[in-house]
Amino acid sequence: MDLLLKDKVVLVTGAGRHIGREIALTLSQEGAKVVVNDYFADRAKAVVDEITAMGREAIGIQADVRKESEVTAMAQKAVDQFGRVDILVNNAGVLPEAVLSEMIEGLGATFASTEKKHWDGTIDVNLFGVLNCTRAVINYMIQQKYGKIVNIISDAGRVGEPRLTTYSAAKAGIVGFSKALAKEVARYRVNVNCVSVGATPQKGTITEIADEKLKDWFRMYPLARGWDRLGVPSDIANAVAFFASDMSTWVTGQVLSVNGGYSMVD
Ligand SMILES: NC(=O)c1ccc[n+]([C@@H]2O[C@H](COP(=O)([O-])OP(=O)(O)OC[C@H]3O[C@@H](n4cnc5c(N)ncnc54)[C@H](O)[C@@H]3O)[C@@H](O)[C@H]2O)c1
Repeated sequence: MDLLLKDKVVLVTGAGRHIGREIALTLSQEGAKVVVNDYFADRAKAVVDEITAMGREAIGIQADVRKESEVTAMAQKAVDQFGRVDILVNNAGVLPEAVLSEMIEGLGATFASTEKKHWDGTIDVNLFGVLNCTRAVINYMIQQKYGKIVNIISDAGRVGEPRLTTYSAAKAGIVGFSKALAKEVARYRVNVNCVSVGATPQKGTITEIADEKLKDWFRMYPLARGWDRLGVPSDIANAVAFFASDMSTWVTGQVLSVNGGYSMVD
């Protein structure tokens, strides 16, 4: 099936590794021109190099999604380079600092043990980052009467995840934002949808799952028993490709969980 993404311009935030990288590569393989954003310039550059090595077009832009001025400049640069932005994938996200600093057997801190200073970082990237990046491109999309916004959330935001309370709040906030925005901008042919991710581990990071723990995790993910694995980045990228393409023209304000059956939300 041709997803008709040829020459569409896509901006993927946090695209320097793992899920964001896979989204950038997948949309590029479908013919899109890709703006690869990351907080770390070297990560963005490495993905741009992969894309250009495939003979496709991409530019890397270092910007912190928390910083409105950097994000506005990024959108302008993308338009200067490619003439438009058709698709925004708000992928950049972080787990709470409290998880990193108080990790006990893979678990984060309870809400009762945290204070506002622990929450700000999580909300800033996961929620304000999405608002900043969306604000930076939305008027281009309105003017061109075309756009697709795909927000990467987490099942933590749909069903709640203990010890990830602020992260859950930020991701749930994106859902409300996406639905409201979807209703505002539908008249301009702009669609806004969310892809909700379940455990998609990555070696050498906080989402890595030790082998001995895998069996426990498998019990929570019905399809893990069938396929002998948890989520992989291409699972997410394939769903994003659907929402980024005109295959989903009549779909807006929706949330699709890509989670091996972990949660089944109506
Ligand atoms: N991996 C999982 O199991 C999982 C589960 C649920 C949801 N998610 C969501 O999927 C998305 C991608 O997750 P991932 O596992 O690939 O994460 P990751 O940490 O591997 O990659 C995220 C990328 O975003 C970049 N980034 C972080 N803060 C940024 C900022 N302020 N500005 C610009 N870039 C920034 C990082 O540098 C990194 O390259 C996130 O929104 C995450 O919340 C992931």
